[in-house]
Amino acid sequence: MILVTGGAGYIGSHTVVELLNNGYEVVIADNLCNSSHEVLSRIEVITGKTFNFENIDLSDRDQVFNSLNKYPITGIIHFAAYKAVGESVSNPEKYYFNNITSLLNTIALGESMNITNFIFSSSATVYGIPKSSPIPESHPVLQTNTPYGTTKIMGEKIIMDVALTSKVNYCLLRYFNPIGAHHSGLIGDNPNGTPNNLMPYITRVAVGELKALSVFGNDYATIDGTCVRDYIHVVDIAKGHLKALNYTTSPNTPAIFNLGTGHGTSVLELIKTFQEVNGVNIEYKYTKRRDGDIDSMFASAELAAEKLNWKAELTLKDMVKSSWIFQKNSKHE
Ligand code: NAD
Ligand code: WQD
Repeated sequence: MILVTGGAGYIGSHTVVELLNNGYEVVIADNLCNSSHEVLSRIEVITGKTFNFENIDLSDRDQVFNSLNKYPITGIIHFAAYKAVGESVSNPEKYYFNNITSLLNTIALGESMNITNFIFSSSATVYGIPKSSPIPESHPVLQTNTPYGTTKIMGEKIIMDVALTSKVNYCLLRYFNPIGAHHSGLIGDNPNGTPNNLMPYITRVAVGELKALSVFGNDYATIDGTCVRDYIHVVDIAKGHLKALNYTTSPNTPAIFNLGTGHGTSVLELIKTFQEVNGVNIEYKYTKRRDGDIDSMFASAELAAEKLNWKAELTLKDMVKSSWIFQKNSKHE
């Protein structure tokens, strides 16, 4: 049985779908602070399968041990964390407490049980301002300018230290920019309030809930002056976790993999693809640069291809199409 912390969230829910479809038993631990019961029902609709659910706060060690000890857990995928970069700057203590304490408690649970694999959600943010792209995993982990990013660097470091004396295969997956939704349109990225990230902002403009997209800067040294990122379909990200669950690391050393496509796309290219594929207009205007944004970054995806036999398969068209279908389904929620 696989424990999926944060399994009701955006990436977690898609990963649970893949796990159930591939015959795994699953227990989700989530306090629904950034998700809902509705997602859990939708996972059951998509897969026709059931799973266990524990509504617990992972930052509370007693709750973690008391509610999860009873399951025959053999692997853990740890998604649960706060992820709003801007909020982490205004409320750093909230981010350090939740992201670090929840990780420590989940590691402690895993170490106390007979588990084989532990996967941690890391992020391309650990590369700071990268020297160049494509970024290989060997690129130094650099200081980030946000507490959120620092929780990912600290999380990686905690796991590296724990692995030194552990038999568990630890794996750090550094996601680039996950977008898109399940093809059913039933689960996807549905942030509360005004979205911070580009794709949910675009879909809310498309559906008429927001007036216009602000494109943050058009004077970068890129193909069209707008920032370049490695957008990757969330279903491809989810599948990467199944590969990593079966990966045996070198003793006492966490495996580290980028999950990206290896291709960069500019903000304008993403907007244009969205408009063309979905036949809807996106109002946008250029505004000043957003503090902290990096002009261009995309992954080297070679290591995951070689060691995990994993490659992103879905295209930018699949990403924008599924995001739009999901947004239309979510309109009245
Ligand atoms: P999400 O907010 O949709 O999902 C996180 C889930 O964790 C939510 O369901 C939330 O309710 C739960 N959670 C948070 N704190 C909890 C706690 N203390 N106890 C129990 N449940 C708790 O986020 P996501 O986009 O699915 O991201 C998943 C992971 O991937 C996070 O660790 C995030 O930092 C990382 N990540 C995300 C992105 C991205 O762009 N989405 C990129 C890189 C890394
Ligand atoms: C993408 C591009 C913006 C919104 C963030 C986190 C990172 C990771 C993924 C978790 C940028 C531009 C955006 C808008 C815009 N998360 N943009 N107008 O910043 O690459 O990465 O999410 O680990 O840590 O920092 O993603 O979607 O916010 O922005 O022009 O309204 O879209 O400038 O170039 P980002 P994003």
